[in-house]
Amino acid sequence: MTTSSAIAQWVEENLRVPPSHLQRISKRYDRIDLMIQSKKLMEAVLESIPVGIEVVDANGTVVYINRCFETLSGINRHTRLGKNIFNTNPTGILAQALKSQTGIHDVLTFARESKVGAIGNASAIFSDGKLIGAITALREVSEVIHLARKYAQVIYTPPKLPEQEVPKYNFSDIIGSCRETAETVRLAKKVATSDATVLLEGENGTGKELFAHSIHAGSSRFNKPFLRINCAAIPENLLESELFGYEHGAFTGASKSKAGIFELANEGSLFLDEIGDMSLLLQSKLLRVLQEHEIRRLGGSKTISVDVRIIAATNRDLKQMVVKGAFREDLYYRLNVFSLRIPALRERIDDIEALSHHFIAKHNLRSKKHIEGIETEALDAFYHHRWPGNVRELESVIEYAIIATDNHMIGVNDIKAKIPISQAPKCQTALLTIDEMERRMIERALELFGDSMDGKKQAAAALGISVATLYNKLRKNRLDA
Ligand SMILES: Nc1ncnc2c1ncn2[C@@H]1O[C@H](COP(=O)(O)OP(=O)(O)OP(=O)(O)O)[C@@H](O)[C@H]1O
Ligand SMILES: [Mg+2]
Repeated sequence: MTTSSAIAQWVEENLRVPPSHLQRISKRYDRIDLMIQSKKLMEAVLESIPVGIEVVDANGTVVYINRCFETLSGINRHTRLGKNIFNTNPTGILAQALKSQTGIHDVLTFARESKVGAIGNASAIFSDGKLIGAITALREVSEVIHLARKYAQVIYTPPKLPEQEVPKYNFSDIIGSCRETAETVRLAKKVATSDATVLLEGENGTGKELFAHSIHAGSSRFNKPFLRINCAAIPENLLESELFGYEHGAFTGASKSKAGIFELANEGSLFLDEIGDMSLLLQSKLLRVLQEHEIRRLGGSKTISVDVRIIAATNRDLKQMVVKGAFREDLYYRLNVFSLRIPALRERIDDIEALSHHFIAKHNLRSKKHIEGIETEALDAFYHHRWPGNVRELESVIEYAIIATDNHMIGVNDIKAKIPISQAPKCQTALLTIDEMERRMIERALELFGDSMDGKKQAAAALGISVATLYNKLRKNRLDA
């Protein structure tokens, strides 16, 4: 029996109500029934979805929590309901969304109680233009990753593309928003949409590989193969057969014919990593492919047309190598159609904090820890360190500190085994001394123009000083070695 018919029966049996009144009452209770049913339905839906929901009213009082939220956060709803979010979790995304009356998107959170990583979204709720509360929705990270992979396979990748041919990163993986990074990403996104050959230059660990994958993922070839070969890691003759393939009997051991990486990457992109380490002989063969768009397998006679976009990377100074005769000038100009210099970490110290938090979240997840952040003194040390290993070094320092620390925040004690601790006063965060600034500018000018006689002349002109002054400053900063 429904609520309304039970009420109607009770009214009929106990009160003397004319039938017409009874009908009207019954209709009203039907509506109540509907409301009760839809509320129950709503609750059942919210209880069963695999998304953790927490709702607060306009004052921040928690009014609803579903089962999934309890599981993800490790918080029992009865201990949270009725409490104020500004007391229980004032820095959380729900409090932020309510306070700012906006939406907070895709924030990686890690619940200490449940040891589960989740992606959180929160937004303020309005009714008739009036703020009535805020809602947060949490999804388990592993589930999001699983979904993203599934989605990527369906939408972006033909099912037959093997995993090693799919780019591992895209532009959203590149952390950092300082001027230098933003400009590099802007240019990379531009060149991604063209078919031009790209040369990525930068020190070790600056993110060249990250950019190479992202450029392919952001290109019209995104659903075609992306193949990578490290020219420094493979001996010359092996590299040649890897690049161009071989025909049966081309050399001892070539019992079958094999397609080279150029053929396999057809219609897609080929990432030639550490191109500066390629031998002069292979350089000339590579130049031929770039000019003719065709290859010939080792031991083969027929030419095979290939349509491959080249993304090359190096941490060596190719221009300087050309001067020294170690790199072919014609190949250099072929590769250098669009070169992107990925700045060293010390040139974009404003990214250090964001990168640190990114790596803290990443390694919290891996090591099931809950480090909340990094202390100002430790960040100061980061700002003063020269980071010869760049972002890779920063990640390894954070990874070490997360394992080493006994606290909730990474402090100088947790990093001092890895990097020098600066004696600079706390308030100097992100400031450089004039001498340090001078040294960095000189280094930058030499990186740009090279440290040949001619390069130094251009560097001095760009810095607005005489060549003699430049030499004095090089000596002073011990950069003349
Ligand atoms: N801007 C960034 N945001 C997030 N992670 C980054 C960024 N830059 C680099 N990394 C990470 O730092 C590590 C080193 O980056 P990567 O391998 O792309 O550098 P590389 O320039 O190719 O280095 P190498 O010259 O040694 O080959 C990787 O784990 C990469 O994911
Ligand atoms: Mg690399």
